[in-house]
Amino acid sequence: MKTRRRTSSITRADHGFGFLVLVFILSQAITSSLSEQSGEQLIGYGYRVGSVTNDSSGKSLTAQLQLINSTSIFGPDIEILSLTASFETKDRLRIKITDGNRSRWEIPEDVLPRHPHTPLHRFLPENHRSPPFRRRFPSLLSHPDSDLIFSLHNTVPFCFTVSRRSSADTLFSTDPNNNDSTTYLIFKDQYLQISSSLPPESSNLYGIGEHTKSSFKLQHNQTFTLWNADIGSSQVDVNLYGSHPFYMDIRSPQGKTHGVLLLNSNGMDVVYTGDRITYRVIGGIIDLYFFAGPTSELVMEQYTELIGRPAPMPYWSFGFHQCRYGYKNVTDLENVVAGYARAKIPLEVMWTDIDYMDGYKDFTLDPINFPADEMKKFVDALHRNGQKYVIILDPGILVNATYPTYIRGMEANIFIKRNGIPYLGQVWPGLTYFPDFLNPSTGTFWRNEIKIFHKILPVDGLWIDMNEISNFITSPANPSSTIDDPPYRINNAGNQRLINERTVPATSLHFNNITEYNIHNLYGYLEARATNAALVNITGKRPFVLSRSTFVGSGKYTAHWTGDNAATWNDLQYSIPGILNFGLFGIPMVGADICGFSGNTTEELCRRWIQLGAFYPFSRDHSGKNTIRQELYLWDSVAATARKVLGLRYRLLPYFYTLMYEAHSKGTPIARPIFFSFPQDIHTYNISSQFLLGKGVLVSPVLQPGAVSVDAYFPAGNWFDLLDYSRCVRVKEGSHVKLNAPADYINVHAREGNIIPMQGEAMTTAASRNTPFQLLIVISSSGGISSGQVFMDSGEDLEMGGKDGNWSFVKFYSGIVGNNLIISSEVSNQDFALNHKWMIDKLTILGLTKKVNVAKRFKLVTDLVSELKHVSLKVENYCDGFVTVEISDLQ
Ligand code: GLC
Repeated sequence: MKTRRRTSSITRADHGFGFLVLVFILSQAITSSLSEQSGEQLIGYGYRVGSVTNDSSGKSLTAQLQLINSTSIFGPDIEILSLTASFETKDRLRIKITDGNRSRWEIPEDVLPRHPHTPLHRFLPENHRSPPFRRRFPSLLSHPDSDLIFSLHNTVPFCFTVSRRSSADTLFSTDPNNNDSTTYLIFKDQYLQISSSLPPESSNLYGIGEHTKSSFKLQHNQTFTLWNADIGSSQVDVNLYGSHPFYMDIRSPQGKTHGVLLLNSNGMDVVYTGDRITYRVIGGIIDLYFFAGPTSELVMEQYTELIGRPAPMPYWSFGFHQCRYGYKNVTDLENVVAGYARAKIPLEVMWTDIDYMDGYKDFTLDPINFPADEMKKFVDALHRNGQKYVIILDPGILVNATYPTYIRGMEANIFIKRNGIPYLGQVWPGLTYFPDFLNPSTGTFWRNEIKIFHKILPVDGLWIDMNEISNFITSPANPSSTIDDPPYRINNAGNQRLINERTVPATSLHFNNITEYNIHNLYGYLEARATNAALVNITGKRPFVLSRSTFVGSGKYTAHWTGDNAATWNDLQYSIPGILNFGLFGIPMVGADICGFSGNTTEELCRRWIQLGAFYPFSRDHSGKNTIRQELYLWDSVAATARKVLGLRYRLLPYFYTLMYEAHSKGTPIARPIFFSFPQDIHTYNISSQFLLGKGVLVSPVLQPGAVSVDAYFPAGNWFDLLDYSRCVRVKEGSHVKLNAPADYINVHAREGNIIPMQGEAMTTAASRNTPFQLLIVISSSGGISSGQVFMDSGEDLEMGGKDGNWSFVKFYSGIVGNNLIISSEVSNQDFALNHKWMIDKLTILGLTKKVNVAKRFKLVTDLVSELKHVSLKVENYCDGFVTVEISDLQ
């Protein structure tokens, strides 16, 4: 770790004359954009360490910080701060800085439960424990089991660092740049600033959203604003629907990775220059969490341990979904469902946008175009066919004394208030009040409304939209308060809007007088929580909720789509960084509107989009009201490609679903950046046009019009094309490879070393689940073991892999010993799979370089295949000298 010269001088000088001189020198030197913004000259600034207390377990340290010199920019400074650094687990370090004298807004535990702190297994031995009070600097907090070290430096101003023990890397350092007050720690009521230097040559950052970007890796010299807003996601670089102040930093060249979360729900700008990251926040506290990794998978495991693991999604939600804003009536819906059936394109879920409502009122049906009896028949028919139905709900409740939902809402007194009365906004139905999901009574109200509606129409899932909250009007700010228009203006909508614009005003009040100012970014999270709980209560089944607005932890309640994209080639590409980001945010069930939402799509774009979208974790075609229709069967070429790619998706359903299980149990994303599997290949750090499903399936789509080839990056190894096993890529080291990608083709490759569970193609996920399993075994060229796994349960139980044991989980391993191909498995809870008669009837082995007599020497230890009778072998020479073996009729 770097120690600056002034660090040691001030340690020596401490309270003496040298200290005063230094403060004076610093104060003269400071010029800043802060002063530029306010027109006020900054005088010496910052905090110094007062007292430091280590708790006797050696697990945490508390320091009192004292303001050295104040400035009135953005309001008065808070004089005394309290800093606590603690190891909550061996891999999670929390650094909390708040007002030393008064409590401030921080996200309550009952709103966002933090995982109970896992006790550290090993504490410092008694004789190594720190005395309860000491003043040696730097003051260290380290734990023998942890790779993270926290150091507090008695510099002026004070600073702290977080470093990695095993590599001696500094991960975060608040040591400011001389003369640059934008890098100082500042703590005011409505302005918090904390900044860390970063090594630009080795640090690679991902995350901090929600924004639309062409590059997944964060580019230098950008400001990321976090303030949930209804802004079309085709707009790049501006704040969008959700807030996730979390980033992952992979350090080249070793590829060690850590994560950093600033748990704060207030509006903020995050300024990333490459050599620094600076948070400029308009409220709350500084609550930083560091996740040690050192792999990306472990960072996700550690991050979701804190914020909550992703919700399990029902099996059916991995089927294909069709939606549109502008379906006219029930016949229109029926025709779409029939169109898919006729074209033999699998359609799992039919959706309806606000069109179904009577005057856009939640929980009503348009009596002319979507009458209740016809709708019920329609949904029953879907269900008979193994299909599902999902509808939209918006938070705004029409203010109308004859509307039962409104009446019940008023009786329950659950609307957000301003100046003592419900705040009046305007959305689709007209003038509306907004339910306050912070209020426990709102959960009851919401559940009851859903329950009444569910009796009329038994929908299978709910889509919650406009929950940033979107408001079509802007109410005047309260001139006597700095809440509606705080002294520091974040870059809302690219500096086009004050925080109050087109949402609920910040001075509005929620339950317990919590201001919209503080809770704004949590509205979608809270609505998702209430909606998820309502569905659990009403259906008793695993809920499916799709929310536009999200916050840290939303993944435990909801899926997400990237909002209102446009039917453009750019937006097709942006969907890849968008989806990868939500994987990092702990919301792995994510997709973009396939074929594009706004503007007219084209046959070619829609064809390329379904080729890519078939591999989004959440795969839905959705379009805007005044656009041309874009159901996949409308063009022959799109229909043909859809059959092919959705066919592969459905064959991969056991793989997708097992990735859901992995996400739910460990937080690992379903769609992953390539560096997750290849952290030491630094070329993977910059890739924004390809992604992995799980650890071994690489998707390399065409993203340009007219292109019939794709320049794809392949990390070292043998890769086999899943649509045509005779095509393979063999690269000794990571390389760009030009692949053919004719109009009807997408390149999807499985890497050596993987065993991929598959089932048969079908028109619904239920039908696909009735087909036998197949294993695709891709032999490891290094002579190593190939591995894979499959998770099986009902697909709709509330729990996934819960204590009831109604599930089976099988790990597969395979390797070559001499001339024998050995395949083995490890089964947990075999009964569930056996009872369902789930059997493997085919093994396809890719990548053998010699012929092995698998039939005779083959040893299979799996409860899924009881006996190997009547084995028939098909051996073909494929792809660059490889032998591919198919073993079928295993039963
Ligand atoms: C919002 C949603 C979009 C939906 C429309 C009408 O723009 O993002 O998906 O179709 O509202 O409800």
